[in-house]
Amino acid sequence: MTKLWGGRFSGQTDALVHRYNASIGFDSRLYDEDITSSAAWAEALADAGLLTGAERDDLLAGLEQVRGEFAAGLFAIAPDDEDIHSAVERRLTELAGPVGGKLHTGRSRNDQVATDFRLWLMRACDRIDAHLAEVQRALLHSAAAALDLPMPGYTHLQHAQPVTWGHWALSHFWPLARDRTRLAAARRSAGVLPLGAGALAGTAFPIDRARLAERLGFTAITPNSLDAVSDRDFAAEFLFFAALLGVHLSRLSEQLILFSSAEFGFVRLDDAYSTGSSLMPQKKNPDTLELTRGKSGRLIGHLTGFLATLKGLPSSYDKDLQEDKEPVFDAADTLELALPVMAGLLRSLELRPERMAAQLEAGLLATELADYLVRRGVPFRAAHHLAGQVVRRGEERGVPLTELSVEELQAISGEFGEDVAGVLSIPAALAARTVTGGTAPAALAAQLAAARAALDS
Ligand code: ARG
Repeated sequence: MTKLWGGRFSGQTDALVHRYNASIGFDSRLYDEDITSSAAWAEALADAGLLTGAERDDLLAGLEQVRGEFAAGLFAIAPDDEDIHSAVERRLTELAGPVGGKLHTGRSRNDQVATDFRLWLMRACDRIDAHLAEVQRALLHSAAAALDLPMPGYTHLQHAQPVTWGHWALSHFWPLARDRTRLAAARRSAGVLPLGAGALAGTAFPIDRARLAERLGFTAITPNSLDAVSDRDFAAEFLFFAALLGVHLSRLSEQLILFSSAEFGFVRLDDAYSTGSSLMPQKKNPDTLELTRGKSGRLIGHLTGFLATLKGLPSSYDKDLQEDKEPVFDAADTLELALPVMAGLLRSLELRPERMAAQLEAGLLATELADYLVRRGVPFRAAHHLAGQVVRRGEERGVPLTELSVEELQAISGEFGEDVAGVLSIPAALAARTVTGGTAPAALAAQLAAARAALDS
């Protein structure tokens, strides 16, 4: 029996129970963080007078050897290795000799795993943030290239008012900016060091936790050891970030799936980002977008599943917490693929202005009629009603409302004058919306500049 905790046991662990208990199958990807935190711990033990300088150096050298074996894919997991922490310590002791047995002084796997996991997540947050910025950059690029390109705007997926491609593209930029704020907050939450909490009550040795935190790149230390070994808020925050980002990516995907359909035809996906059908030779399917839309379900599942895992736990460590890693790893892996795929797809997206123009029908201008009357002093409710009558007259006559004569308009309201034609055009409708966030060229230029600034900040 070579289990870390084997001393008080006389019987063997049931083979199935060993498998059930073991997390090495998924937590070996924490090896680098485990070795980094162990090295810092060895330094802290030496600082506290619990290791001689020579012992510390032997441990550090041994740990680097273990790290090298992992990095080279040469680390052999032994049958009794329960998790990454026991595996590293077992191998360290094989390499460095009995001094390996001193490393775990004053430490528990409970504070160790929380430390490793936080370190891993901080690094993952940095990678994901860079991927997110790339998607934003791709949206910004697309927006800038067709900032003033008119297209129909929709509410309820029905023609509403004219907007522009740039306006639409930026509408998907800002949710990602908010996602990055949430990601930064999750990273900050992860950056609080639990090491020194021991199993639950705090280590009994004079460890300088603040120094340890600094060494490992944490910005604070946990204030309560019972909380420290069971706090997984940072993981939940990350999973919420991932779930909501998944929702945003799914909405963008859904809209691009629609826009690339024969019915809309506003965009064409590059061959590199679509796939064919094994049966229908003409098909070009938006599989990448569909996968991203589909994977958002899995991200939401990770969040709700993990919250359910946490909800019944008393403070301090419970083995339930071993369930924290797989959802977080999978969410991170999912995003680290979905985000670069989305960035590439957006960058290679072909716009089809003629198909957008074909949908710019006069109905999109009905609001302009009402606004025209409002500028003449007609109360908006009445103006809305009168503009509605114009729409109906056009339908009765089977012509777009822009084809009705001024006389016909005046029969509906005497407030209509010759100058009404001036507001009844797509460029005029766009130009009228100069408000911050609006679709007028100057407002869009300002928004684009704000987006650029947000990206570079
Ligand atoms: N593999 C465990 C986990 O992932 C490490 C901590 C185990 N602690 C314990 N007392 N059994 O949570």
